[in-house]
Amino acid sequence: MIVCPVCSKKMQKIERKYICEGNHNFDISKFNHVNLLLSSQKNSKLPGDNKEMVLSRKNYLEKGYYKGISDAINEIVNKNLKGLKEVNILDIGCGEGYYTSRLKNNLDDLGVESNIIGIDISKEAIISAAKSYKKIEWIVASASSLPIEDESLDFIVCMFAKIIPEEKMRTLKKGGKLIIVSTGENHLLQLKEIVYETVRKDYYSPVEDLNIFSHLETLNVKYDKEILEKDSIENLFNMTPYRWRSPQSGVEKLFSLDKLKTTIEVNIDVFEKNKKNKTFINLFSSKKCN
Ligand SMILES: C[S@@+](CC[C@H](N)C(=O)[O-])C[C@H]1O[C@@H](n2cnc3c(N)ncnc32)[C@H](O)[C@@H]1O
Repeated sequence: MIVCPVCSKKMQKIERKYICEGNHNFDISKFNHVNLLLSSQKNSKLPGDNKEMVLSRKNYLEKGYYKGISDAINEIVNKNLKGLKEVNILDIGCGEGYYTSRLKNNLDDLGVESNIIGIDISKEAIISAAKSYKKIEWIVASASSLPIEDESLDFIVCMFAKIIPEEKMRTLKKGGKLIIVSTGENHLLQLKEIVYETVRKDYYSPVEDLNIFSHLETLNVKYDKEILEKDSIENLFNMTPYRWRSPQSGVEKLFSLDKLKTTIEVNIDVFEKNKKNKTFINLFSSKKCN
C-alpha cells in the first residue's frame, strides 16, 4: 500500500528501511515509524500539532472520556465490513493514535485481518503514536500528498482533521468507505460557556465538500460527561483550537474548576466511493472539518 513520496513507485520494507523500486530509501526509526514528508511538502519547520498539544491530547484521551466516539467509529467499520476478512485502513490526521489503536484492537477481536496505517503531518504526534501502539504502520506525511497506492484502501477515517477530497478519492477502492468525524452543535458547550461571554452554536457538515462521494449516513453521537480531574480539564482545553483564541480571564476561570460537566457531541458521516467512479480529475479545494 505504501508508495514512495518522491517517485510514487511501490515501497518495500527491507530490514530497517523502506526502499522503492526507484531506489529512494527512508529509515525506519527506533520507535518504528517512518518520515515520508518531503521538505517541499512542509509549510513550516514543524508542521501540525506541537509536542504540548500531542501530550495534552494523549493524557486526556487515555482517561476514556471520548471512548464513546471511538466505540461508534468501530461499530460503523464493523457494520460496513460486509464479510471482508482482510481490510486496508488509513487514518488521516491520526494524532497520537488513540482511535487508530482501538480500531485495530476491535478488528483483532473480530478475527478480521487489518493493515492499518496512521498518517499525520506532525512528527511529534507520530512519534507518540509509535511509542505507544505497536501493531500499526505510523507515517509522517501530509493529507494533501498521501504516500499510498491508488485504489488500495477499504476504509479511510478522518477525525477532526483536514479534508482533501481528491487524495481520498484516489486512494480508496471502488466501494470503499470514507468516515469523517466532525464536532457537533453542542460539543463542549458548557466548557465554552465558561471561557467565552457569548457562545456561538455551529457545526461543520462535510457533505457538500465531499459531494464527489455518495453520502450514506450521518450518525450523531451525543452524551454528557463529568470530567473529574483538574489536569484533564486543562488537557481538554489545550488539545482544542480554543487554546489559541480565548480570553485569559475565561481560561483562568476554567482552570480554577475541580470538575466540569460538559456535553460531548460529534457527527460521523459515512461516504462511499461509487463502483462506477472514473479517474478523478483534480477540481476540488481542501477544507478543514472542525
Ligand atoms: C484535531 S487533531 C485530531 C487528531 C486525531 N484524529 C484525534 O481525533 O485525536 C488534527 C490532527 O491533524 C494533523 N494535521 C494537520 N494538518 C495535516 C495535514 N495536512 N496532513 C496530515 N495531518 C495533518 C495535526 O497534526 C493533528 O494531529
